[in-house]
Amino acid sequence: MSILVTGGAGYIGSHMVLSLLEHGHNVIVLDNLSNASSESLRRVEQMSGRQVILVKGDIRDRPLLDNLFSAHDISDVLHFAGLKAVGQSVEHPLRYFDNNVSGTLTLCQAMEAAGIRRLVFSSSATVYGEVATMPIHEALPTGSPTNPYGRSKLIVEEVLQDLAKADARWSIALLRYFNPVGAHESGLIGEDPNDIPNNLVPFVSQVAVGRRDVLYVFGDDYATPDGTGVRDYIHVSDLVEGHLCAMQAIARQSGVNIWNLGTGQGYSVFEIVNAFEAASGREVPYRIAPRREGDIAECWADPAKAERELGWTAKRRLDVMMQDTWRWQVNNPEGYSPA
Ligand code: NAD
Ligand code: UD1
Repeated sequence: MSILVTGGAGYIGSHMVLSLLEHGHNVIVLDNLSNASSESLRRVEQMSGRQVILVKGDIRDRPLLDNLFSAHDISDVLHFAGLKAVGQSVEHPLRYFDNNVSGTLTLCQAMEAAGIRRLVFSSSATVYGEVATMPIHEALPTGSPTNPYGRSKLIVEEVLQDLAKADARWSIALLRYFNPVGAHESGLIGEDPNDIPNNLVPFVSQVAVGRRDVLYVFGDDYATPDGTGVRDYIHVSDLVEGHLCAMQAIARQSGVNIWNLGTGQGYSVFEIVNAFEAASGREVPYRIAPRREGDIAECWADPAKAERELGWTAKRRLDVMMQDTWRWQVNNPEGYSPA
């Protein structure tokens, strides 16, 4: 049996593929390489000493999916493929709904036709919208995401819930990630943003390595201890371990299960800057800028449900998250593409 990883050449997907291979699974990756390089998988093969089948293609391509499912004996689908740039989703909502929502519909239709009904979906804490009190637990109703990217995640969650309601043979995990950061401890694979990074940690990391001059801190007047935004940063390797646990859990039970994947601990922008400076030994110059539209003051998880039901907790602390990010950045200043 094999596991299909959509978006497996990307940031989180490549770490997942490595871990699956190390656990003895056979892995097939379906990725259109719209936001990734096949170099990530070449390195994964080198690190694991095992081979990955990379199918270069799109989750919206139904004939390709049908061929893939008939050519391979697939037990589970881990579905990471999607577009994730919030600002871009505001400019190009149709592109986002087509890729993320239609793509997932096509994938599920092909899975259904092939009789494969085990799916792990990469969702996001963004589906909670603006929450008044922290921490956020899964029983809270979903909110109103402030952008098309977030809405595409919420729509897919709702579609998958309806699907499992209609047919009890489906086993689906909706994993709501908080803020994934870090890189594999080897420094060989990591996050390789295409353009100017939107997210804090890749931006800080590029400032520290000298690719950017200064970090703009989006607001220092929030009602948080130091005035800057607070988030729940989680090491990508912990996130991957959460997926392994979720896969085992949904093999035992059908229906939809929702789990937060976060640490339960929030850190402010200034705390991230300080931790990164300590990890890198470099200064991270910053300027205070206006708040970013759509940002919330704070967001962190209650991870108790995942601990109780999956036996999973995030283990890696902030210093390790920053050290691993730095090791990847220093070893690969231009990401996967050589300068
Ligand atoms: P990423 O962009 O590095 O990986 C996504 C991968 O999917 C890329 O390799 C891309 O080429 C591929 N892809 C995109 N559209 C595709 C399509 N139509 N067909 C085939 N392949 C396609 O992003 P990531 O950070 O690894 O995120 C993985 C998943 O987790 C995404 O669904 C994302 O929305 C979700 N997520 C990410 C974060 C985060 O902060 N990184 C947070 C919450 C949720
Ligand atoms: C963002 C997305 C969210 C997505 C998540 C993971 C927005 C509004 N939200 O969340 O939908 O699920 O990424 O991909 O984009 N910050 C700075 N300067 C920067 C970058 C960020 O000060 O250059 C601050 C932000 O204001 C925030 C914190 O750092 O307080 C974290 O930001 P970021 O890494 O972008 O994550 P989120 O805002 O949580």
